[in-house]
Amino acid sequence: SVSTPPSVAFLNGQFSAENVIKKVTRSGDLRGVFHDGDSWQAISPETPIYEVEMLRSPQGEGELYAGVTHLQPGRVGDEFYMTRGHFHQRREQGEVYFGLKGAGLLLLQDEKGDARLERVSPGSVHIIPGFSAHRLINTGNEILSALAVWPSIAGHDYASLTQGFALRVVERGGKVQVREVQNG
Ligand code: PA5
Ligand code: NI
Repeated sequence: SVSTPPSVAFLNGQFSAENVIKKVTRSGDLRGVFHDGDSWQAISPETPIYEVEMLRSPQGEGELYAGVTHLQPGRVGDEFYMTRGHFHQRREQGEVYFGLKGAGLLLLQDEKGDARLERVSPGSVHIIPGFSAHRLINTGNEILSALAVWPSIAGHDYASLTQGFALRVVERGGKVQVREVQNG
Protein backbone atom coordinates (compact mmCIF):
# COMPACT_ATOMS: atom_id res chain seq x y z
CA SER A 1 0.00 0.00 0.00
CA VAL A 2 1.06 3.58 -0.57
CA SER A 3 0.68 6.28 2.06
CA THR A 4 1.41 9.99 2.00
CA PRO A 5 4.18 10.93 4.43
CA PRO A 6 4.48 14.38 5.98
CA SER A 7 6.10 16.90 3.68
CA VAL A 8 8.23 19.95 4.26
CA ALA A 9 7.85 23.02 2.06
CA PHE A 10 11.36 23.79 0.87
CA LEU A 11 10.36 27.43 0.35
CA ASN A 12 9.70 28.13 4.02
CA GLY A 13 10.29 24.96 6.02
CA GLN A 14 6.66 24.46 7.02
CA PHE A 15 5.70 20.88 7.73
CA SER A 16 2.41 19.64 6.31
CA ALA A 17 1.83 17.38 9.30
CA GLU A 18 -0.56 18.76 11.88
CA ASN A 19 0.68 17.16 15.03
CA VAL A 20 4.29 18.22 14.93
CA ILE A 21 6.03 18.83 18.25
CA LYS A 22 6.81 22.53 18.70
CA LYS A 23 9.26 24.17 21.04
CA VAL A 24 9.70 27.92 21.24
CA THR A 25 12.86 29.36 22.76
CA ARG A 26 12.47 32.91 24.05
CA SER A 27 14.99 35.55 24.94
CA GLY A 28 14.47 34.81 28.63
CA ASP A 29 15.58 31.20 28.08
CA LEU A 30 18.94 32.35 26.73
CA ARG A 31 20.58 33.83 29.80
CA GLY A 32 24.34 34.06 29.35
CA VAL A 33 24.21 33.17 25.67
CA PHE A 34 24.74 36.64 24.20
CA HIS A 35 27.87 38.56 25.11
CA ASP A 36 26.09 41.85 25.88
CA GLY A 37 24.19 41.12 29.07
CA ASP A 38 22.79 44.68 29.37
CA SER A 39 21.24 44.52 25.90
CA TRP A 40 19.86 41.07 26.71
CA GLN A 41 18.25 42.45 29.91
CA ALA A 42 16.72 45.29 27.88
CA ILE A 43 14.57 43.05 25.65
CA SER A 44 11.44 41.36 26.89
CA PRO A 45 12.14 37.80 28.10
CA GLU A 46 9.02 36.80 26.17
CA THR A 47 10.57 37.70 22.81
CA PRO A 48 10.54 34.55 20.67
CA ILE A 49 14.00 33.89 19.23
CA TYR A 50 13.55 30.48 17.60
CA GLU A 51 11.07 27.70 17.19
CA VAL A 52 11.80 24.04 16.47
CA GLU A 53 9.14 21.88 14.85
CA MET A 54 9.78 18.14 14.99
CA LEU A 55 8.05 15.24 13.37
CA ARG A 56 7.04 12.37 15.61
CA SER A 57 9.31 9.45 14.85
CA PRO A 58 10.41 6.18 16.40
CA GLN A 59 13.05 6.40 19.10
CA GLY A 60 15.97 4.12 19.82
CA GLU A 61 19.27 2.99 18.37
CA GLY A 62 19.28 3.55 14.61
CA GLU A 63 16.19 5.75 14.50
CA LEU A 64 16.22 9.34 13.24
CA TYR A 65 14.52 12.62 14.10
CA ALA A 66 13.68 15.33 11.59
CA GLY A 67 13.00 18.90 12.64
CA VAL A 68 12.99 22.42 11.29
CA THR A 69 14.45 25.36 13.18
CA HIS A 70 12.97 28.78 12.42
CA LEU A 71 15.34 31.43 13.76
CA GLN A 72 14.10 35.02 13.89
CA PRO A 73 16.16 37.86 12.45
CA GLY A 74 17.46 40.35 14.96
CA ARG A 75 20.27 41.16 17.34
CA VAL A 76 20.96 41.40 21.03
CA GLY A 77 23.17 44.49 21.06
CA ASP A 78 25.47 43.93 18.10
CA GLU A 79 25.21 40.14 18.16
CA PHE A 80 22.95 38.33 15.73
CA TYR A 81 20.20 36.08 17.05
CA MET A 82 21.35 32.48 17.33
CA THR A 83 20.42 29.16 18.81
CA ARG A 84 21.87 28.11 22.16
CA GLY A 85 24.03 25.47 20.51
CA HIS A 86 25.01 22.08 21.84
CA PHE A 87 27.14 19.00 21.71
CA HIS A 88 25.28 15.74 21.45
CA GLN A 89 25.11 13.80 24.68
CA ARG A 90 26.36 10.88 22.64
CA ARG A 91 29.37 12.83 21.40
CA GLU A 92 30.12 10.59 18.44
CA GLN A 93 26.72 11.15 16.82
CA GLY A 94 26.59 13.49 13.82
CA GLU A 95 23.74 15.39 12.20
CA VAL A 96 22.83 16.89 8.83
CA TYR A 97 21.44 20.42 8.42
CA PHE A 98 19.84 21.67 5.20
CA GLY A 99 19.38 25.39 4.61
CA LEU A 100 15.83 26.14 3.46
CA LYS A 101 15.18 29.86 3.71
CA GLY A 102 17.05 32.95 4.75
CA ALA A 103 20.73 33.61 5.24
CA GLY A 104 22.98 32.73 8.10
CA LEU A 105 25.87 30.76 9.45
CA LEU A 106 26.39 27.39 11.06
CA LEU A 107 29.00 27.55 13.79
CA LEU A 108 30.82 24.28 14.43
CA GLN A 109 33.26 23.65 17.23
CA ASP A 110 35.22 20.55 18.11
CA GLU A 111 36.12 19.34 21.58
CA LYS A 112 39.50 21.10 21.45
CA GLY A 113 37.61 24.38 21.00
CA ASP A 114 38.52 24.88 17.33
CA ALA A 115 35.62 26.67 15.64
CA ARG A 116 34.62 27.24 12.03
CA LEU A 117 31.66 28.64 10.14
CA GLU A 118 29.66 27.43 7.16
CA ARG A 119 27.37 29.70 5.17
CA VAL A 120 23.71 28.63 5.38
CA SER A 121 21.52 29.42 2.39
CA PRO A 122 18.56 27.80 0.64
CA GLY A 123 19.77 24.39 -0.51
CA SER A 124 22.99 24.29 1.50
CA VAL A 125 23.83 20.89 2.98
CA HIS A 126 25.86 20.71 6.19
CA ILE A 127 27.46 17.53 7.44
CA ILE A 128 27.97 17.99 11.16
CA PRO A 129 30.53 15.40 12.21
CA GLY A 130 30.45 13.66 15.55
CA PHE A 131 32.18 15.35 18.48
CA SER A 132 31.10 18.80 17.18
CA ALA A 133 29.05 21.44 18.91
CA HIS A 134 26.74 23.33 16.55
CA ARG A 135 24.79 26.58 16.54
CA LEU A 136 22.75 28.43 13.91
CA ILE A 137 23.17 32.20 13.53
CA ASN A 138 20.77 34.40 11.55
CA THR A 139 22.77 37.13 9.81
CA GLY A 140 19.93 38.12 7.46
CA ASN A 141 16.78 40.20 7.58
CA GLU A 142 14.28 37.36 7.33
CA ILE A 143 13.61 34.16 9.25
CA LEU A 144 16.36 31.57 8.83
CA SER A 145 14.86 28.11 8.42
CA ALA A 146 16.93 24.94 8.38
CA LEU A 147 15.95 21.28 8.34
CA ALA A 148 17.90 18.95 10.60
CA VAL A 149 18.09 15.16 10.68
CA TRP A 150 19.78 13.49 13.64
CA PRO A 151 19.91 10.17 15.47
CA SER A 152 17.24 9.90 18.13
CA ILE A 153 19.84 8.55 20.57
CA ALA A 154 22.09 11.62 20.12
CA GLY A 155 20.60 13.74 22.91
CA HIS A 156 21.47 17.37 23.64
CA ASP A 157 24.28 18.38 25.95
CA TYR A 158 24.05 22.11 26.63
CA ALA A 159 26.03 22.10 29.85
CA SER A 160 29.41 21.28 28.31
CA LEU A 161 29.38 24.57 26.42
CA THR A 162 29.31 26.83 29.44
CA GLN A 163 32.62 28.30 28.23
CA GLY A 164 30.77 29.18 25.06
CA PHE A 165 31.89 29.10 21.47
CA ALA A 166 35.22 30.54 20.34
CA LEU A 167 33.59 32.76 17.71
CA ARG A 168 30.90 35.41 17.92
CA VAL A 169 29.11 36.93 14.94
CA VAL A 170 28.24 40.61 15.21
CA GLU A 171 27.05 43.48 13.07
CA ARG A 172 29.55 46.29 12.53
CA GLY A 173 28.72 49.20 10.27
CA GLY A 174 26.09 47.20 8.43
CA LYS A 175 28.46 44.27 7.87
CA VAL A 176 28.70 40.80 9.33
CA GLN A 177 31.82 40.52 11.42
CA VAL A 178 33.28 37.41 13.01
CA ARG A 179 35.09 37.87 16.29
CA GLU A 180 37.38 35.48 18.09
CA VAL A 181 36.75 35.38 21.79
CA GLN A 182 38.68 34.14 24.80
CA ASN A 183 36.65 32.01 27.20
CA GLY A 184 33.44 32.49 25.22
O1 PA5 B 1 19.08 18.96 16.48
C1 PA5 B 1 19.55 20.08 16.31
O2 PA5 B 1 20.77 20.31 16.33
C2 PA5 B 1 18.59 21.23 16.09
O3 PA5 B 1 17.30 20.75 15.88
C3 PA5 B 1 18.65 22.14 17.31
O4 PA5 B 1 18.24 21.44 18.45
C4 PA5 B 1 17.82 23.40 17.13
O5 PA5 B 1 18.38 24.17 16.10
C5 PA5 B 1 17.77 24.25 18.38
O6 PA5 B 1 19.06 24.53 18.85
P1 PA5 B 1 19.45 24.22 20.36
O7 PA5 B 1 19.06 22.80 20.62
O8 PA5 B 1 20.92 24.44 20.43
O9 PA5 B 1 18.66 25.15 21.22
NI1 NI C 1 22.21 18.71 17.24
